[in-house]
Amino acid sequence: MHVSDDSLILDLPDEAATLALGARLAHCLAPGMTVYLEGELGAGKTMLVRGLLRALGFAGRVKSPTYTLVEPYTLSGFIVYHYDLYRMHDPREWEDAGFRDDVGEHALRLVEWPEKGRGSLPPADLRVTLELAGDARRAHLVALSEKGKICLDDSAR
Ligand SMILES: Nc1ncnc2c1ncn2[C@@H]1O[C@H](COP(=O)(O)OP(=O)(O)O)[C@@H](O)[C@H]1O
Ligand SMILES: [Mg+2]
Repeated sequence: MHVSDDSLILDLPDEAATLALGARLAHCLAPGMTVYLEGELGAGKTMLVRGLLRALGFAGRVKSPTYTLVEPYTLSGFIVYHYDLYRMHDPREWEDAGFRDDVGEHALRLVEWPEKGRGSLPPADLRVTLELAGDARRAHLVALSEKGKICLDDSAR
């Protein structure tokens, strides 16, 4: 593990480690925050969301919203919006889909392929980049706001 002021690198040796990172993030993320999840197809972005939602008490199936662009999860007290913008062709589709209305204090937004919505998305508090490392994965977390920084510090413990 390598920690600097606002960034953290974690080795994720197996799928369970990716789920565990999601669970750790669940404890420091809060409604009103936005997380960008970057990395190629199969890097583990959806797996991380799965770990996060399970840690927040969601027992159902977490499917990839590749075709629907978004999947909402209503949890006790707040909503998690899980976006997958892979199939978005133009950042303006974000507004066309009415996602701006999702932006509120009651929602936590987790965004796969945020680069597809550049310019339209709310700014991120935290960016998580997953990369392949042989058969395993490596996560690079970067805090982009004060709240994100607090979350990163928690995750580094
Ligand atoms: N740390 C890890 N080490 C090895 N395999 C992993 C790890 N994390 C996830 N995986 C595997 O990689 C794949 C990730 O798929 P998925 O989460 O759908 O990727 P993405 O959403 O980034 O396209 C799954 O098959 C999962 O089992
Ligand atoms: Mg995915």
